[in-house]
Amino acid sequence: YMTSCLSVVVVGASGDLAKKKTFPSLLNLYAFDLLPKSFQIWGYARSDIDSDGLRDRIRPYLLKLEHSAEVVEQFLSLVQYHSGKSYGDLDAFVGLKGRVEAFENSKSEEKFNRLFYFAIPPNVFAETASAIKQTCMQEEVKGWTRLIVEKPFGRDLESFEELNTALSSQFSEDHMYRIDHYLGKEMVQNLTVIRFSNMMFERIWNADNIQMVILTFKEPFGTDGRGGYFDKFGIIRDILQNHLLQVLTLLTCESPTVARGPRAGNAIRDAKVHVLNSIPPIEIEDCVLGQYEGYADDPTITNKDTNTPTFAAIRLKINNPRWAGVPIILKAGKALNERKAEMRLQLKSAPAADYLFEGEDCPPNEIVFRMQPHEAIYLKTNVKKPGFGNKPVQSEMELNYDTRFFASDAQDGKKACNPDAYTRLILDVLNGDQGAFVRDDELRRAWEIFTPILHNIENDNIRPFTYAQGSRGPVEADEFITKCGFSRNANYKYP
Ligand code: BG6
Repeated sequence: YMTSCLSVVVVGASGDLAKKKTFPSLLNLYAFDLLPKSFQIWGYARSDIDSDGLRDRIRPYLLKLEHSAEVVEQFLSLVQYHSGKSYGDLDAFVGLKGRVEAFENSKSEEKFNRLFYFAIPPNVFAETASAIKQTCMQEEVKGWTRLIVEKPFGRDLESFEELNTALSSQFSEDHMYRIDHYLGKEMVQNLTVIRFSNMMFERIWNADNIQMVILTFKEPFGTDGRGGYFDKFGIIRDILQNHLLQVLTLLTCESPTVARGPRAGNAIRDAKVHVLNSIPPIEIEDCVLGQYEGYADDPTITNKDTNTPTFAAIRLKINNPRWAGVPIILKAGKALNERKAEMRLQLKSAPAADYLFEGEDCPPNEIVFRMQPHEAIYLKTNVKKPGFGNKPVQSEMELNYDTRFFASDAQDGKKACNPDAYTRLILDVLNGDQGAFVRDDELRRAWEIFTPILHNIENDNIRPFTYAQGSRGPVEADEFITKCGFSRNANYKYP
């Protein structure tokens, strides 16, 4: 793509996602010299502004990044604005196509690629896709046309199928890149390498050795003005059905047949679908739901008696030989005591721990992948307490990414680059790498797993437990996880 001409159209250019994620990521690629020489962005939206108006709206977000003001201005000079009356406004898209073509015609490259980024709500996906299909598709011989689509991809299985049919009637899977930004995080992208290139992990990754798997997402703030959106979706759709389930698939799938090259994109997604096929739908006994105190006070939430969960701990099963019988917990919550996202595998106790160290504290090992903040991998390990005596004490073997990779002198005197998830993923789209994007069959399975419980909560008005803002979530969740077989060592604190 670097030797071709590239036009990017950000549909929904004046919205939140575009300002906070899409334009900043494009700026990163520009600043890292990862965009072709012939490159232009068009923002499309309904607001009645001009190109300078759009630049003024996005500039403050771009200046928050680490690039110089000069680079930001150079980048902004490549951004134009084009408005329409609606997202399906054919006349407006014909006008946009004219501008894109005029730009392409002024360039001498052999290929002219077009990327459309949908930073819009799903209720306008279909009309936008249809308008683009009718007006703006690049001829295949001249270059590619690709679409980046953002969640939410529906509210349940039925609405997903509707949305998917509307999109897939216009575009094939090859054109479509459904973003789940957790797939762009360093530690998640690391999973295939760490699992399949290390014997010490590869051979213990199964029910013989693993007692329990827990994926955790915690945020220290509530809906923060997004209550209107959040109350319609809730934590299960916002975090578990997409981000945590996606991470889980990479943590638990079988090895893909290839991990590099043009076949990798589908090989990795085949492996993910394969494990998703072994996960039965969730039942209400497998859930502990919570809502933080004061949630409904958010002025953007109209239903003051809302039962929308802001916290959920859900137990899944993976019915295959590798994972049979291992409880898998997905846990996520808003307004909790800290910001943290991690994957944790608790191992079974070592056979001799009980009789050799009777009466001592020898908790089971854990392998922890900390996704954020501050990427780290640590193995909770029992060692002899240093000094006189021979008591075991729980400690950790740790790979701390900040010191090992990201410190200014970490790698041969240089710092490794740690681009944000969106920047990595947009680069994948430009390269045509689909492995970190969600295929339609993955998403269908994800909705099949979660739809029954979501309908159950809504139809039967299941009430969540309340929890204090800034707490660990409802105490019932900790009790549930302990009952599932997790052993918590209250004496250990990760430093
Ligand atoms: C989004 C959710 O998809 O992910 C938000 O809609 C959440 O509610 C966000 O805050 C978390 O992303 P990150 O990258 O900050 O962990």
